[in-house]
Amino acid sequence: MGLGALNDGLAPTPPMGWNSWNRFGPFVSDQLVRETADALIESGMRDAGYRYVVIDDAWEGSLRSDDGQLEANLWRFPNMHGLAAYLHKRDLRFGLYTCAGDRTCQGYPGSRGREFVDARRFASWNVDFIKIDWCHSAGLDARAAYATWSEAISATQRPMLLSICEWGRNRPWEWAGSVGHLWRTSHDIADRWDSLVDILDRQAALADFAGPDHWNDPDMLEVGNGGMTDTEYRAHFSLWAILAAPLMAGNDVRSMTDATRAILTAPEVIAVDQDPLGRQGKRVNMAKGVEVWVRELAGGARAIVLLNRGETGARAEVTWDLVGGSRSDTALVRDLWERQDVGRRTEGYEVTLEPHSAALVKATRS
Ligand code: GLA
Repeated sequence: MGLGALNDGLAPTPPMGWNSWNRFGPFVSDQLVRETADALIESGMRDAGYRYVVIDDAWEGSLRSDDGQLEANLWRFPNMHGLAAYLHKRDLRFGLYTCAGDRTCQGYPGSRGREFVDARRFASWNVDFIKIDWCHSAGLDARAAYATWSEAISATQRPMLLSICEWGRNRPWEWAGSVGHLWRTSHDIADRWDSLVDILDRQAALADFAGPDHWNDPDMLEVGNGGMTDTEYRAHFSLWAILAAPLMAGNDVRSMTDATRAILTAPEVIAVDQDPLGRQGKRVNMAKGVEVWVRELAGGARAIVLLNRGETGARAEVTWDLVGGSRSDTALVRDLWERQDVGRRTEGYEVTLEPHSAALVKATRS
């Protein structure tokens, strides 16, 4: 187990929002962020829970100011304070990125040795969420570096979430819970099925380290970015929900398809992710590319993902003894994508799954 959590109540359930990186890379601007904020509202995403609007790398200017402050690229971000106000007025929150090392991954000034100055700068811009990367960090001790950040944020007296992004290199699940609110557990996700299941496998042993205010972060969502089918994206979203993962949309929400919007706003899937008990799901069975993942929900029901990783259709089955009950139990099964009860089932539940697909159901003992 980790060393405990911050318990500051800033992230009682996994943070939800949007981050510029997966879709836009370094091509970020004030206009993109404002248009995204408007689209989050119009699409219903804000009201579905996506509140943090995070600008990733490349918002920075290429040098610090003469007095040593981080500066925005003034062509792209003429007024950070104004941008924060734009978001806050719309009941959204503002997130920014920096790096614990000498330079960011895109080569902009890093925050090494300037943690207190930079935290104050972020607080002065009314930032609510800071993502801190790990490029150009040779010689730094991850645990100490992020602890310094935690102190620097506390010193500002502004509540800001701390998103630790050292890619799981230093077993952050063992120490990051008392330092930040979420920590990446792996290298960067890519918009491909093999990347998705590779990252998934890295989460299987980490469930016990997460909980309210301290979450494993298997990286931001690729839903809607075009590299996978909608079926694969539904599996992606189902799995992130069962993992109690932060849900940071990573697509262009200004121009998404109806199918993408429906995935990202699926209310009963989001409710699993945001379940107040805050227990991360576990893999309880795997055979021939078919897996069963189970998450305990507040009130005792179970969310269950049945996943077919394989290249051909498959039958997938869960029996109630695998989810904490006994085989002879009867449970009411509800399909959380269809938002419909499937009916009562004794012993377990079985479905046929297309290749690269997942079912997400809730089982309530009855
Ligand atoms: C690293 C992080 C990504 C993103 C980029 C930005 O790769 O892991 O999430 O922030 O840097 O340069």
